[in-house]
Amino acid sequence: MSRLDSFIRRMSAQRDIIDHVRDNVPLLPTGAILEIGLGNGRTFDHLRDRFPGRRIVAFDRALGAHSSSTPEPENLVIGEIGETARAFAGQGAALVHADIGTGYPDKDAITLTWLPDIVSAALAPDGVAISGLPLEHPSLAPLPIPSSVDPDRYFLYRRKA
Ligand SMILES: C[S@@+](CC[C@H](N)C(=O)[O-])C[C@H]1O[C@@H](n2cnc3c(N)ncnc32)[C@H](O)[C@@H]1O
Repeated sequence: MSRLDSFIRRMSAQRDIIDHVRDNVPLLPTGAILEIGLGNGRTFDHLRDRFPGRRIVAFDRALGAHSSSTPEPENLVIGEIGETARAFAGQGAALVHADIGTGYPDKDAITLTWLPDIVSAALAPDGVAISGLPLEHPSLAPLPIPSSVDPDRYFLYRRKA
């Protein structure tokens, strides 16, 4: 598979799972959405379209988003996510979306030493996590994903109550 094919599949999987959650996986009535890895802001824009009225807090080490998809300053956290997102432990997020895989197994293995803990701690009980990297954590139970998504491409969890 070419890298272009792989990119398109990742983007399709991301959109399909977010839309699947909107349509089929009820979110808690309160609690923010955390966008872990703002990047260009395309997914941030999709999340605010699909979940209108929800506070969305976005994280990145530097602001690189398109001006039309830049969060308000109070909802933008700049810095290393492994450090900044720890402040959101216990804040009861309803949904976390994490798109910080690199395609380099060695780098992703380092990310996976802290990402599952941070996601689990930030979520409310029954909160939902969508991730481009698999999150192995005792508090995160896998949920079924849409048939359009390769099960090794994108991952969906609910935090145990
Ligand atoms: C694949 S991009 C996200 C793309 C995004 N979904 C979009 O719609 O454009 C990943 C982003 O996460 C950020 N990132 C990755 N690891 C990070 C870390 N440990 N701390 C802070 N930012 C990180 C990168 O700077 C990059 O902007």
